[in-house]
Amino acid sequence: MIQADNVTKSYGSTRALRGVSFTINKGEIVGFLGPNGAGKTTMMKILTCYMTADTGSVDVAGLDVFDNSLEVRKRIGYLPESAPLYNDMPVVDFLKFVGGMRGISGSRLHERIRELVGMTGLEGAVTKCIGELSKGYRQRVGLAQALIHEPDILVLDEPTSGLDPNQIKEIRELIREIGREKTVILSTHILPEVNATCDRAIIISDGRVVASGSPSELMARSGGGNSVIARIRGPEADVEKRLSAIQGVSSLRVIGRDENIVRYELHGGKTGELAERVFDTVVANKWSLAELRQESATLEQVFAELTT
Ligand SMILES: Nc1ncnc2c1ncn2[C@@H]1O[C@H](COP(=O)(O)OP(=O)(O)O)[C@@H](O)[C@H]1O
Ligand SMILES: [Mg+2]
Repeated sequence: MIQADNVTKSYGSTRALRGVSFTINKGEIVGFLGPNGAGKTTMMKILTCYMTADTGSVDVAGLDVFDNSLEVRKRIGYLPESAPLYNDMPVVDFLKFVGGMRGISGSRLHERIRELVGMTGLEGAVTKCIGELSKGYRQRVGLAQALIHEPDILVLDEPTSGLDPNQIKEIRELIREIGREKTVILSTHILPEVNATCDRAIIISDGRVVASGSPSELMARSGGGNSVIARIRGPEADVEKRLSAIQGVSSLRVIGRDENIVRYELHGGKTGELAERVFDTVVANKWSLAELRQESATLEQVFAELTT
């Protein structure tokens, strides 16, 4: 559905995109994940035709964003980072206005507005001025305006930023609902967003794509992320020496202490194997084991590894 090839973009001497390539398939919900300043907004502006790339190309539904800008815009709904809403306009007037700009009128427009109001849960708010609405409801209006022309693709820039936890939950549910029928691309700098909403993440750092995959694929790709937490009672110097000597252990750290039980964190080795070896070592030396826990890499660790 979307194919970006080696896209670059600079603002003066700032190189915002340094050769970004990716593919997004029809029906996917994809997250552009990256720290602030990574280039997410810049990429979104290029693929929604708000800005042109310096070099490289972007195809949307087989159409080049530069050569077929108008056709591409008809197929894309866009909710920018700070949604451009008119505070003193009632919701319904705003949607009529946006629909008019998209070339929809008459009974078709009325029908469309009725559908969108139902879909985004704006029933109680249609006659209210946008400025009176909570941030969560303003975001619903933003989604409704992006969908008015029935685009196949929805592009959302940080759609839950600034919302409270309940509003975040509601907007994520709405995005997932919309994503059942459409291709959705959303940007975010927070990981839980990807886990909660997306099928796949494209991780962007410093203007480059550094990884792409489903949350579980990304976690599996992380090297050395496996760790074991063990709470052991025994002669400390000896315990440390023998644990460090376990095959595959790349690091050993004391992370806590509770009376004479010491809490150790070990890294390295294959999943499962490390915990088993720690257990065998404890038994062989007749120490006592208060806790043994296997921890797999979190998406946070993978993200930190990839973007720093
Ligand atoms: N209009 C602009 N003028 C100059 N620099 C910009 C402009 N917009 C973005 N940048 C810079 O480009 C880089 C990427 O920005 P942006 O695409 O907004 O990243 P993100 O959305 O991931 O936070 C940053 O270093 C940012 O400061
Ligand atoms: Mg941004």
